[in-house]
Amino acid sequence: MEKCLIAAISDDYALGKDNDLLWHLSEDLKYFKRLTSGHPVIMGRKTYESIGRPLPRRLNIVLTRKAPETGSGSPLSAASGPPAGEGSAPANQPANLLYASTLEEAFALAASTPFEGRVDEPDQCFVMGGGSLYKQALPLCDKLYLTEVHTTRPDADTFFPAFDKKIYRELSRSELYSENNLTYHFVIYGR
Ligand SMILES: NC(=O)c1ccc[n+]([C@@H]2O[C@H](COP(=O)([O-])OP(=O)(O)OC[C@H]3O[C@@H](n4cnc5c(N)ncnc54)[C@H](OP(=O)(O)O)[C@@H]3O)[C@@H](O)[C@H]2O)c1
Repeated sequence: MEKCLIAAISDDYALGKDNDLLWHLSEDLKYFKRLTSGHPVIMGRKTYESIGRPLPRRLNIVLTRKAPETGSGSPLSAASGPPAGEGSAPANQPANLLYASTLEEAFALAASTPFEGRVDEPDQCFVMGGGSLYKQALPLCDKLYLTEVHTTRPDADTFFPAFDKKIYRELSRSELYSENNLTYHFVIYGR
């Protein structure tokens, strides 16, 4: 399985602020949906909570070091049963939502878990944030799908890690998109 990473970053590598995104770009959301549908997506617990629900038509694997608790309220507490790390889905948990307690476990689940609508060609999984996940996963990923948004956001509180463009070479760059007073490119880097 090809390990991919997908992110939208500014020219100063900003990703988010106050557990939210920095922009709303509809073409970027469509691009994200088109690339990830039918594939496993791996995300940190904070990113999952900021979305608030599993993304449809994808296997959602959420990284957390805390066991999901019984109760009501947060997405994590909607799950009861085994601790995070066992890769199982308790009875009241959506079938396309799994928890993992290490990145290695998340990649193993991504490779081995069947789910409705799974697409095997191309055989890919996507690390989809946030900052802490990107930092850990970057050295393990084969391909980076970066939406490069041409602005700077020094006010952000979450940033994408610096990466070596001699190791990750640019494979393709889209035409320039323009939306909400921002311009951006879809860029693919590969090792
Ligand atoms: N621009 C983009 O493309 C993009 C994409 C996604 C997210 N974002 C933004 O990124 C920000 C969130 O990023 P973040 O770095 O604060 O949080 P995050 O990476 O989404 O989640 C961090 C949490 O993930 C869990 N975790 C991380 N590494 C783990 C590991 N190795 N093993 C087990 N659990 C692990 C921990 O959860 P526990 O505390 O539960 O143990 C940790 O607190 C938000 O602003 C969001 O909007 C931007």
